[in-house]
Amino acid sequence: MKRLQVNIQDNNDNFYDILIGSGHCKEALVEYIGEQKYKTCILLTNRTVDHVLAHSVRDMFPKDVRLVNIIIEDGEKFKTLETASFILDQMFEAGIMRDDCMFCLGGGVIGDIGGFVASIYLRGIKFVHLPTTVLSMVDSCVGGKTGVNHTYAKNSIGTFTQPDMVIIDSEFLTMLPKRQLISGFSEIIKHSLIQDADLFDSFEGMETFDFESFVEGFNDILYRSCRIKADIVEFDEKEKGMRMLLNFGHTFGHMIETLTSYSVYTHGEAIFAGMEFATYISHKEGEISREDFKRVQKVLLKSGILIELPKVPINIIESIVSKDKKNRAKGIHFIYLERLGKAFVKETSVEKIVKEFVDFVNEESKLICFAGK
Ligand code: NAD
Ligand code: GLY
Repeated sequence: MKRLQVNIQDNNDNFYDILIGSGHCKEALVEYIGEQKYKTCILLTNRTVDHVLAHSVRDMFPKDVRLVNIIIEDGEKFKTLETASFILDQMFEAGIMRDDCMFCLGGGVIGDIGGFVASIYLRGIKFVHLPTTVLSMVDSCVGGKTGVNHTYAKNSIGTFTQPDMVIIDSEFLTMLPKRQLISGFSEIIKHSLIQDADLFDSFEGMETFDFESFVEGFNDILYRSCRIKADIVEFDEKEKGMRMLLNFGHTFGHMIETLTSYSVYTHGEAIFAGMEFATYISHKEGEISREDFKRVQKVLLKSGILIELPKVPINIIESIVSKDKKNRAKGIHFIYLERLGKAFVKETSVEKIVKEFVDFVNEESKLICFAGK
């Protein structure tokens, strides 16, 4: 097991541990709960994860702790204020006190909504992430962004609240569908492209992103990926500068998710495609060579993803990109690669970049096409 300490500079003496390993969850839980002397713990999960994992996880909690189980429906569409309110109701009914703790067992949806509820219940109780998807292990459980969606925009209501601890047990991934596994890999590749060229190089030798291809070194990949995100959020918790680099591939990834109503492709699939374009535009603007663009494209293609976009007028794409939260009055803050393993933010015009995107999809992309082409 590896221990990664995340130190948040914005808050005095605020740090937490991420424990990464396989099969260590029970021991870690018993030790942490014993130290904290919790009398009551909440286990928040969804119906799917409850079915595959929660029974065994419940058995990991010390027997003298009262465990309150809260189970919500599965899916992004339930990451709402209504569901948050349902969780709060359950907590009040169970008499949860300020010194109790919530354990969020699930993917990014559970971590985001659980962290959010924990951060507002009685003005905040402690919470621990027990992530069960690759994406939640390397991305959403690190950095303290909590929240729910609003009909106006995704993730638009929430807080920056750091967890008290994170336990990443890769044994939780055994039952994860392959599509989710590959999707989560998008964020690992993103981390490598923005900060760790050696990690990126290691993906060039892989056939595909399935579990068997990397099971041996998998915990090491999880550790390196979490380390990259932790380094960034330690420096810039509230996304005033450097944390924006984590949005590499996300401007057009979010556009793809919006254009396909969040129902056709997973977030990770959209991000694979968004990174193909962001790498291409970095080449087109003279930052990286064509050879490096092709190297990245080849790695992204190992995901086996092909995004088919509906043919819509260009102004629809422009309006979606303009509404992206990285947009500023004068233009959009776009993340480019200076080289493989180093990214930077530059302002660019929405019209210009959307035109480049459309030309790219028509002429160069191997991961994105327009319907009917
Ligand atoms: P998810 O939480 O919806 O999980 C994906 C699917 O896998 C769900 O159906 C879930 O029930 C199922 N599942 C989870 N673990 C499983 C397991 N071990 N075995 C079998 N099935 C399992 O999706 P996700 O990709 O983990 O997370 C996406 C969410 O994370 C989005 O809401 C996104 O906004 C959020 N996110 C947050 C941050 C952050 O910094 N807070 C960063 C990135 C993404
Ligand atoms: N996933 C982007 C961030 O945490 O800032």
